[in-house]
Amino acid sequence: MARSQRSNSSSTPAPSDIVSRSGRFSSGPAADVAAFSESISFDWRLWRQDIRGSIAHATMLQSAGILNAAELKAIREGLEQIGSEIEAGRFTWKPELEDVHMNIEAELTRRVPAGAKLHTGRSRNDQVAVDVRLWLRDEIDALAGEIRGLQRSLVQLGSRNAAVIIPGYTHLQRAQPVYFAHHLLAYVEMLERDLGRFADGRERTNVCPLGSGAIAGSTLPLDRERVARLLEFVDAKGKPRVTQNSMDGVSDRDFMIEFCASSALLAVHLSRLSEDLILWVSSEFGFIRIADAYTTGSSLMPQKKNPDVAELTRGKSGRVIGNLMALLTLLKGLPMTYNRDLQEDKERLFDTADTVRRCVRLTAAMLDNTSVRAEACAAAAADPLLLATDLADYLVRKGMPFRKAHHVVGAVVGFSEANNNKPLNQISVAEFQAIDGTFTDDVASVFDLKQAMARRTLTGSPGTREVKRQLDRWTRSLAKG
Ligand code: ARG
Repeated sequence: MARSQRSNSSSTPAPSDIVSRSGRFSSGPAADVAAFSESISFDWRLWRQDIRGSIAHATMLQSAGILNAAELKAIREGLEQIGSEIEAGRFTWKPELEDVHMNIEAELTRRVPAGAKLHTGRSRNDQVAVDVRLWLRDEIDALAGEIRGLQRSLVQLGSRNAAVIIPGYTHLQRAQPVYFAHHLLAYVEMLERDLGRFADGRERTNVCPLGSGAIAGSTLPLDRERVARLLEFVDAKGKPRVTQNSMDGVSDRDFMIEFCASSALLAVHLSRLSEDLILWVSSEFGFIRIADAYTTGSSLMPQKKNPDVAELTRGKSGRVIGNLMALLTLLKGLPMTYNRDLQEDKERLFDTADTVRRCVRLTAAMLDNTSVRAEACAAAAADPLLLATDLADYLVRKGMPFRKAHHVVGAVVGFSEANNNKPLNQISVAEFQAIDGTFTDDVASVFDLKQAMARRTLTGSPGTREVKRQLDRWTRSLAKG
């Protein structure tokens, strides 16, 4: 038993007792209980936020008259010292002290007697809530930077290949021609919405729960707004933002779930992009080449070059989605307020953040090392069937109702199939006219791909001018950072 030997009768309690259960318990937890309930193995990474939160709390305790100036100074210096030791890898985490909060506070109290006053008006329940909010706020900012980077990589790959046209697909069947850049810009749009969701969730993360105590606040004259300001939990005008209900303050994990939900959707977007890249790099499509450094070989088949980065990104979306489900399930049956179940939140949150960040970064790097096989794209885009809809539009321009035009072009395609798949652009005017008298000599112009792309002028369409306009727009807005 980890703590069975400690003396409960000693007049000066051991540091570990100061921050745990002295007085109430006659023995420490059984070794397997301690091992089962510790969280230091994963929450140690909140140490910066824990120290920052403690310094803000202590600063406020001093202005409230609970600490004197010397005590505050000792606590601050002690915490900063511990921080630099952790940073240098010279701090020993003790699993018997359960979590990051108790590890740091116990060590502080061992060094600085005033440390025993630090936890005044505070509980680990509001402490862990503030730590995770601080951590997630930074994480969202870092992730947003990575997503911007991925958008840049997509726009640059599109710009480097601005003239390349490929078939666009529905049902994974060739549909209509699109610029390669237009296809990539679709992902830039998705990522922009992802950024909006993260920014929105950040608003609700950026609220300070300190002062909620264990469940019911404190009878002491704490200054919650002061702490919030010190920790930059402020709105755009610099006004402090504090949680408005102590019970909600200690048990709200919505902000984590929002982050995990936004991440799950981001992961789904990355997975879809990965799937496109995997298809494009296959011999069947052959639209792109991925540099060796971003692929792997096969241990058996010497010729293989596999798009593993894309496959793993597609695969990892599964765990990100799973993490969201785990958190929702964790919360759904919990009675108010804090329950130890909530300790299970952090590994899912950390795993989500780490996974999406790596996937975003690796995808961007892979795209920076991807080249387009222009000949293969041109060959695929030259399929005149891609312009069957343009042929119907041609008839519509001559006054034919679209439903009829659709039917007539269907007959043209049937004629092509019946004639050994004669390409649409090789059908003679006489043959066209035999199908429908509306066709005239100018029908050949429909199959000029360049003209076809120029005709697409609607906002958001894959037309020549429009895609250039969109590339310019994104290049300009992403240059701003
Ligand atoms: N390690 C705990 C967690 O992650 C910190 C809060 C513990 N609170 C408590 N009352 N045991 O949730």
